[in-house]
Amino acid sequence: QQQSASLTDEILSLLKLKDACLVAHYYTDPVIQALAEKSGGCVSDSLEMARFGSQHQASTLLVAGVRFMGETAKILSPEKRILMPTLEATCSLDLGCPVDEFSAFCDQYPDHEVVVYANTSAAVKARADWVVTSSIALRVVEYLAEQGKKVIWAPDKHLGDYIQQKTGVEMLLWDGACIVHEEFKAKGLRDLKAVYPDAAVLVHPESPEAVVELADVVGSTSQLINAAATMPNPMFIVATDRGIFYKMQQAAPGKTLIEAPTGGTGATCRSCAHCPWMAMNGLENLRDVLLNGDQEVLVSKDLIARARIPLQRMLDFPL
Ligand code: 13P
Ligand code: SF4
Repeated sequence: QQQSASLTDEILSLLKLKDACLVAHYYTDPVIQALAEKSGGCVSDSLEMARFGSQHQASTLLVAGVRFMGETAKILSPEKRILMPTLEATCSLDLGCPVDEFSAFCDQYPDHEVVVYANTSAAVKARADWVVTSSIALRVVEYLAEQGKKVIWAPDKHLGDYIQQKTGVEMLLWDGACIVHEEFKAKGLRDLKAVYPDAAVLVHPESPEAVVELADVVGSTSQLINAAATMPNPMFIVATDRGIFYKMQQAAPGKTLIEAPTGGTGATCRSCAHCPWMAMNGLENLRDVLLNGDQEVLVSKDLIARARIPLQRMLDFPL
């Protein structure tokens, strides 16, 4: 505890000294989220992280999250130095969508609009017409449908499925998934709902269809936090990474938050409601990178120029 407090103080001074701003995702350790709040940085979903970082005047952004979030920050703020506690923090969606294969797939359907989830590499973004996050995906696809466009969607098949069902738009789906959300199980969730009939079920749309079907609210991390804050229920069953409980509890004081059931426990469960890559962000590597700057996110000028176009389209999309 004491060691963590002195590390926190050290990081707060280093952030000032290095003119750096800490931007953290809701899935990072609550200690990191608290530090981002205390330092005047931001804790948010991936869309707001991108927005906040690009508008902040600090010369260095320290991104606590996963690789695609750091790359997005670099694409939107090429003049800034983007550091991460570790560049090894990736995402199963990003890993499951290699640019060469994806590009070859898109080449087969030149009359389709290419919409990719933010959880992708800079190279995949550069191949896309649109980048979206879960908080805006539905509205962008609705808009494209109004324009009569056909859509390729990558990489999350569950989110793609959900959007197809909501909009009725037929989309060509890439076969990717999030290893954390894929673990949530409908059977366990149904049993838990029976035990707590007053609880509302909040589900991130990266979860499987059978789980999404049981939801009272389906939404991005910010949308789920907002639901917990505004719905009258005394209790919520939450199907997303448990890191979200820190901000959700702040937004919904006095309400009870329960983790939705996953497929197993301990060694039988690969991720158990906590992203193994988000978990790579810690106080020590955060301090170390501020000291030695070795985990810097670099993206080539050419990729920045190309990936910025579909990203900027998302940021300019009316909310
Ligand atoms: P959000 O865009 O809702 O923050 O989600 C990012 C993510 O990685 C979800 O698993
Ligand atoms: Fe990727 Fe899933 Fe981790 Fe989010 S929770 S960063 S989608 S692996």
